[in-house]
Amino acid sequence: MTVDHVRVHPGPLSGTVRVPGDKSLSHRALLLGALVGTRVEVSGLAPSGDVAATAGALRAMGAEVELAPDPGGALTGHVHGPVGEPVDVLDCGNSGTSLRLLAGVAAGIDGVSVLTGDASLRRRPVDRVRRPLEAMGARIDARAGVTVPPLVVRGGSLRGIRYDSPVASAQVKSCVLLAGLAAAGPTTVVSPLRSRDHTERMLTHLGLPVETTAHADGREEVTLTPGPLSAAPIAVTGDPSSGAFWMVAGAIGEGAVTITGLNANPTRFGIVAALRALGASVTVVDAEPRAGEPVADVRVEASELTGSVLDGVTVVDALDELPVLALAGARSRDGLEVRDAAELRVKESDRIATVAAAFRALGMRFEERPDGYVVPGGQRPQPGTVDAAGDHRIAMTAAIAGTIATGPVEISGFSAVATSYPSFLDDLAALGGRVEVLGTRT
Ligand code: S3P
Repeated sequence: MTVDHVRVHPGPLSGTVRVPGDKSLSHRALLLGALVGTRVEVSGLAPSGDVAATAGALRAMGAEVELAPDPGGALTGHVHGPVGEPVDVLDCGNSGTSLRLLAGVAAGIDGVSVLTGDASLRRRPVDRVRRPLEAMGARIDARAGVTVPPLVVRGGSLRGIRYDSPVASAQVKSCVLLAGLAAAGPTTVVSPLRSRDHTERMLTHLGLPVETTAHADGREEVTLTPGPLSAAPIAVTGDPSSGAFWMVAGAIGEGAVTITGLNANPTRFGIVAALRALGASVTVVDAEPRAGEPVADVRVEASELTGSVLDGVTVVDALDELPVLALAGARSRDGLEVRDAAELRVKESDRIATVAAAFRALGMRFEERPDGYVVPGGQRPQPGTVDAAGDHRIAMTAAIAGTIATGPVEISGFSAVATSYPSFLDDLAALGGRVEVLGTRT
């Protein structure tokens, strides 16, 4: 049974919290771990629906994936490849990362893979991975003119390519690099802006260095030369996208919130940059790096927020955090404008439209733009009911709104949080949040 309908009461949050393992890293630990071909120890993985989807797909491809919760609730265990033609359809659930990255793995396998997912995932674009995989020699098919899943990949006999990606997407880059591992010759991906580099760092951690060039105009060029991977243990660190909810709660609340053990990769810390640009007081204390990734504790204290405009690479670095950041914009003096964020429209929901609907439901102004939003400052959420629209980050954004609202906020479809952060309500309670459960689903 999972909690699906909640009422969050206003009240200040403060204290210290440790969030689940990073979702992006958890997927990559399993996928790259399975490609090593021998037993690889993995720890700290997020016990989330998305990560379970990747684990299930790898099992269908013949890998052994043994994971069990450790005392802190994170998944620890091992993965043992190799992977081959799947014995069944690969159900990626709600997870775009699973589908795009597995498509790259499938392209390197001599056989047929069929990838699908839930109603949300079956609306999300796959032509962005179709083009490079076809150029490498895979045969690709998909629904609606080869644009949306189910996706069929006939793989094997790939050649390395140089691919100019029209989008700064780590999913596209990683898909092509994973296919490149099985290709003849080097593979290069050029992106218009840098994106999260976890795949590159993890490949390097597993003994296969990847060459990255940051061009002066912002373009990023990554080259992989295929070679064997070695079985180094992979420890996953805390998810900054989950930590972002508490960072924003700290910035717009009355006390201070500290999040420990966060992955502090600069390509994931756009939320810290964005909060500082809004005038928030954020302290980052570095900790010991793990598996090639920086780690930090982050403390955010309540302060007067001014306002800002976000665009360019900060937007890419904070993309998944833009829904909850809108709340900080609303509480600021001058408001927040976000540009260059058209990618928000093809996430688990159209996050410009679903944040707009959530703001409307809570009596707040929010102006949609084709590639972003404008939130006027000086606003406080009013009591109301938000539909999570099947999107975990909308559900959690609405919960944070409830903590600073003028009255209780109800959220329907709250079970969506299981996608990334099943223990969200426990952490909310640990920070002093008051939540009533109004409904569950099985
Ligand atoms: C992810 C990359 C991002 C992000 C997603 C996870 C990843 O998507 O929004 O939640 O793990 O590579 P895009 O690369 O498509 O922007």
